[in-house]
Amino acid sequence: MAQLCSIIQFVDAALACSFPFALSYGDPDQKWVIRRHLLSLFQDFPTLLPSADIFVHNDGATVYLLNAKGHLLVSKTTPPVPLTIWVHQNYPSAPPIVFLSPTSDNPVLGYHPFVDSSGFTTLPYLETWLYPRSNLSDLAHNLVLLFSHHHPFSFPSASAMRRFTNPCLASKEEAIDRLFGALHCDVVSKRAQLDEDIQGLLRLQDRLQDRAKITTTILEGAEHEKTSLERRLAEVTEEVDKLEDWLKVHGSNFDVSTEVDDDMGAFQATDLESASRLNFMVKDKAIEDVLYALDEALMEEVVSSEQYIRQVRSLAKNQFYYRNRLIKLTETKTS
Ligand SMILES: *[C@@H]1O[C@H](CO)[C@@H](O)[C@H](O)[C@H]1NC(C)=O
Repeated sequence: MAQLCSIIQFVDAALACSFPFALSYGDPDQKWVIRRHLLSLFQDFPTLLPSADIFVHNDGATVYLLNAKGHLLVSKTTPPVPLTIWVHQNYPSAPPIVFLSPTSDNPVLGYHPFVDSSGFTTLPYLETWLYPRSNLSDLAHNLVLLFSHHHPFSFPSASAMRRFTNPCLASKEEAIDRLFGALHCDVVSKRAQLDEDIQGLLRLQDRLQDRAKITTTILEGAEHEKTSLERRLAEVTEEVDKLEDWLKVHGSNFDVSTEVDDDMGAFQATDLESASRLNFMVKDKAIEDVLYALDEALMEEVVSSEQYIRQVRSLAKNQFYYRNRLIKLTETKTS
């Protein structure tokens, strides 16, 4: 009560122009409305106190205004909301101006539906402000209601959310406020989802960039190898050229000998015999190899012993034939 008395004294003194600056309210009737509304506000919200200060409008106009400064208690579970409610110089036809007091430790939550990061607050109640229907105390009640749905400094609790979506609506304004808040909730959750997606994509991008680096390294290695192979090819080509040059100079002897080969029948006959010998020897050795492979196959049980014996018998017969031919060739030659 003593506090209310001193509040009344302060407001009265301020409005009576006994301050260092004259307040920017000219009309006596206006002052009377301001006094009535402020006192009603302080009575309903003892956490607010009157003060007078310079206010600079966005257009640069400087005025000396009364305000209600302090905090609003929103709920038992959420922190109080520090704020200043300025009484506009054209009050009550102009709505009051509401500023929350965010600090770096206590910033306004991102994307708040009614409060920007500076603390400037716009809400449907102020946008539809109309005297005499609207007044300061009613505004403060509206603020408490809004902040209980949407606390500017802490995320809504589950119970607050339930109250928020309760269909038994008090008024059309409240319904609109709730709708606004609900939409805001959706935006915030979508935004969080989107942020998460973006983070995921960024991580993916990092991984792809890493892979690109590795690929580039491999490509550089291959490029390097290609260069050295090309150099080697050039060297080999040069050597081939040298060889060809050498052949041009020394190669005539070979040409002569080839001609002799073609012309002389005796050499041809010898060649035929050699070819036969070679043919028989190759077949002999080939059968030797097959027999060896068959041994292995039998050991590893790839062929049955029955198959093995059959094959060995037939191969041995062939081998004997070729060896015999070879011996006969040798005998005819020596005899
Ligand atoms: C403020 O407005 C509300 C709602 O219109 C009303 O109930 C209350 O009596 C008003 N208070 C003052 C001081 O005019």
